[in-house]
Amino acid sequence: MKMMFKKLLPVAITGAFMLGATAANAQITKYGKDLTDEERAQISAMVPGAPEPKDDEFVHIPPTMEDLEASDLHPKMKEAIRRGHDLFVNTQQLRGKNVFNNMNCASCHIGEGRLPYAGPVWPAAVDLPAYRGKNGHVNSLEERIVGCFTYSMNGLPPEYGSDDMLALSLYHQWLATGVPMFPKDKLYGRGFPRLADPEQAPDAVRGKAAYQANCAICHGEDGAGKKEGDKVIFPALWGDDSYNWGAGIARVYTLASFTRHNMPLGQPNSLSIQDAWDIAQYVNTKERPQDPRYTGDIKETREMYLDTFHKHSMYGTEFEGKILGDHDNVGHKDFLKPEILRSRDFTGGKKAE
Ligand code: HEC
Ligand code: HEC
Repeated sequence: MKMMFKKLLPVAITGAFMLGATAANAQITKYGKDLTDEERAQISAMVPGAPEPKDDEFVHIPPTMEDLEASDLHPKMKEAIRRGHDLFVNTQQLRGKNVFNNMNCASCHIGEGRLPYAGPVWPAAVDLPAYRGKNGHVNSLEERIVGCFTYSMNGLPPEYGSDDMLALSLYHQWLATGVPMFPKDKLYGRGFPRLADPEQAPDAVRGKAAYQANCAICHGEDGAGKKEGDKVIFPALWGDDSYNWGAGIARVYTLASFTRHNMPLGQPNSLSIQDAWDIAQYVNTKERPQDPRYTGDIKETREMYLDTFHKHSMYGTEFEGKILGDHDNVGHKDFLKPEILRSRDFTGGKKAE
């Protein structure tokens, strides 16, 4: 009986039928203006305190892993999506091969990459290929994933077209089920949306006090987080086990938004805007592994990527008498930049070298 319903009704409705309890997690795919009161309540329970969807924003709450099991996708598809999900939430299984710090993808893309205001990953699946200012060419979905491996995981990305890469990109695409390709509308809660400017310029000294009061209990006074054996309990915020200087979250505004909307874990949107900026300033003036794009000269590297990136980071600036990032430390890996990072052009080889 249930199977028949599923074939006849759109996914958004069947989500609510399944297992009874999943109503709180049901898929939603529609404009803000078309949301029902129940759907609005569902969203605000998922991201307490976050801005509500605006009428003209496109809202997508992806299917869950329970939806996957209940769906009529081919068992081989389910197997591949499960693998992608498992890699996303437990990326540490690739430690020493592709990952060289304490991160899982889900350390930053909270809630399995499904939550608004927590860097939901499905937008990349419908928005790419697209031009990215960070590397100045048209990027595919796989390449976007390569980017987070290179910088956020301080790692060596899996090969293009490999089983792991296919499983991960399929997981992203499956999360985007029902969203049209190349949407023109604003996507609700995409990325870590820019916070309002703070009243006072972000300050690392105030940030340190707020960090100690709100964050140190889990991430440690020394920012190193916590591990039990091989299991990462709390990921590292700075040092060799953390993201490197080229990671998106090394930009102060990105970390401020992440922090306000997602931390302290379980109390999103509880910090003041000022505290979020101050803490981000504090954490992002701490040392971390070298930016993989480092040329050997900190001033030159900052200059090269200033407009597209480093004007928002503290890299190459002076703090407490030292130039941040002025070192050869690459963390736990034994290379600086993975070969897989390359430029592209679409002239068919006609471009003069
Ligand atoms: C240290 C934090 C961090 C980790 C770990 C991390 N990411 Fe990201 N990721 C980011 C940030 C920051 C962005 C940019 C968000 C923005 O633009 O506001 C991002 C963006 C993305 C996007 C693009 C989303 C969009 O809206 O287009 C994808 C896809 C993605 N990450 C996948 C991954 C995958 C896969 C992994 C694990 C291999 C991973 N990320 C690990 C921080 C992280
Ligand atoms: C109750 C424990 C707890 C507290 C308190 C907490 N965090 Fe976290 N934080 C976590 C956990 C757990 C994760 C990984 C999330 C996941 O895997 O689902 C995380 C992830 C992060 C990440 C992304 C991954 C990384 O290591 O860079 C940042 C950044 C972060 N927290 C910053 C903060 C800041 C800033 C504060 C204080 C405002 C804070 N956290 C307070 C538990 C906590």
